[in-house]
Amino acid sequence: MKGILLCGGSGTRLHPLTKVTNKHLLPVYDRPMVYYPLQTLVQAGIEEIMLVTGGNHAGEFLRLLGTGAEFGLKKPLSYAYQEEALGIAHALSLAEDFAGESPVCVILGDNILGSSIADAVAEFTADPRGAMVFLKEVDNPSEYGIATLKDGEIIEIVEKPRKPKSYLAVIGVYLYEPAVFEVVKTLEPSARGELEITDVSNHYLRQGKLKYKLYEGYWGDAGESISALLAVSNEVAGWGRREI
Ligand code: DAU
Repeated sequence: MKGILLCGGSGTRLHPLTKVTNKHLLPVYDRPMVYYPLQTLVQAGIEEIMLVTGGNHAGEFLRLLGTGAEFGLKKPLSYAYQEEALGIAHALSLAEDFAGESPVCVILGDNILGSSIADAVAEFTADPRGAMVFLKEVDNPSEYGIATLKDGEIIEIVEKPRKPKSYLAVIGVYLYEPAVFEVVKTLEPSARGELEITDVSNHYLRQGKLKYKLYEGYWGDAGESISALLAVSNEVAGWGRREI
């Protein structure tokens, strides 16, 4: 399993904080935001990781993270540059050569997870077919990709629904088979002009190849709003001493 850490996008919901830097370099309590999803991947046993970023501050990720050795990575961190914020699935497409024949764990650079995903990663690695997503109940479903369950199966995922049919958000961690890059090539831009990761999930859903897990730990989308950034920082402040 290889890891893909997505840190592109425009970060407009965090203006003015993101006017002069990349969202994923902002502090979440005492660490830059990007540290947390990177550690989630490393802790899950993923040793080869590519970071995709864009905009005017890409070089700062190299200065901050370098080879990733400080995080315990044995193979140097790889980097790709997304020239325009054309969507999460577009950012993913830039990692095609990096992934090769390997299944991938994609994590959004603003997603902060309090618990390990190692078990799910091991389970998917043992049978890397289709895709796996993680669901978590939220209070504000209009801000996320929202899944509807029927008889224990996902029947629909809608991106930022105006009238949500459930409170179950799809969090920003996705496990994919190697053929996901062929799926991304079939996508059309959404109404907001982006290649949507929700359309990738819905492709696997239609094929009957979308697995899911209810995520039990703490989850926060620190990029959702300034108040979410503060709430996630306050949560992390209570986590105690960490190695990095
Ligand atoms: O946080 C979970 C949610 O993340 C999911 O529930 C949604 O289904 C999913 O679409 C996503 O929604 P967001 O509105 O939070 O996505 P956002 O535009 O903030 O992008 C999330 C991350 O993806 C961002 O931190 C960096 C990366 N990204 C995004 C875009 C649009 C890129 O690398 N390139 C891009 O072009």
